[in-house]
Formats: sequence, structure tokens, C-alpha cells
Amino acid sequence: MEVKFNLNGLDVIYHIQPGEYLLDSLRNNGVKSVKKGCNASACGACTVLVNGKPTLSCSVLTASIEGKKVMTVESIQEEAGELSEYFAKEGADQCGYCSAALALVVHALKEENPHPTREEIDDYLVGNLCRCTGLQSQGNAVEKYLGGKK
Ligand code: FES
Ligand code: FES
Repeated sequence: MEVKFNLNGLDVIYHIQPGEYLLDSLRNNGVKSVKKGCNASACGACTVLVNGKPTLSCSVLTASIEGKKVMTVESIQEEAGELSEYFAKEGADQCGYCSAALALVVHALKEENPHPTREEIDDYLVGNLCRCTGLQSQGNAVEKYLGGKK
């Protein structure tokens, strides 16, 4: 079957199997920045934005995104690069497996709430696990990034 949607600003048509999940469809079509971690809605590594909202692509049927807008980290490369400098300074960027998903979540947070409290940051990031560093140092980095502190 065919699914038409917008990926990072471009209209695309994917040929998929019924029951296929968005994570697999994206990766099968070369979008390898979207990571497969637990494949069970528990780690956040597969997060993309669907119509601007953080969405676990391992738990969304590709057929359900017909006509929607999907964003992966490719569409916010400059922002992700800037954020990664903050992560590095806080020791929150090690293997990098979680980084693309986190950059998308931080982008969504910034759009939704440009001046979040630390508690709001921690709440927003809670679904995105980092096996290397935990979440404390990422929260520190995001707090500084959104607060414009170097
Ligand atoms: S791979 Fe989707 S939540 Fe872990
Ligand atoms: S830096 Fe390794 S999982 Fe986050």
C-alpha cells in the first residue's frame, strides 16, 4: 500500500506493508538517524515529530500518518549541532544514540514553551532515556541552552 506524507518539508510516497511501523518505514527508506532502541515504546530513541509533537515512531503505524508532517533531525541540523555543544560541555553526549531524538524533543519543547522551568524540562525529557549519562546532565545542558547560557 502507499502512504503520502510530508517528510522534512518534502512530499513523499512510501510503499509499505500493512501493519508496518513508522520507525521501520523511515529506516527502510534510508532515514537512519531515527534509532531503534527498545522497539517497545520505552526508550524514546525512535522519537520523531508528527505535526510538531514528539511521537514514538516504533509505536505508530505508518498508514496512520497519511497527510501528516513528519520531522526528523535532518530538518533541524543547525539547531541540533548547537545543542550538542551544550550536551558535550555537560558530559551528556557520549555514544550519541539518543542524541537525534533528544534534539527533536528539545525543539518541540522550545516551540511549545520557550522559557520552561527546570521541572518542566525534566518532565518533557523523561521519556527519552540515555543509557550512557542518565538524564541529569542532559537536563543541565537543555536548561543552559534554552536559557542562552554558555
Ligand atoms: S525504540 Fe521506540 S521507544 Fe524505544
Ligand atoms: S549518549 Fe549514549 S545513549 Fe545517550
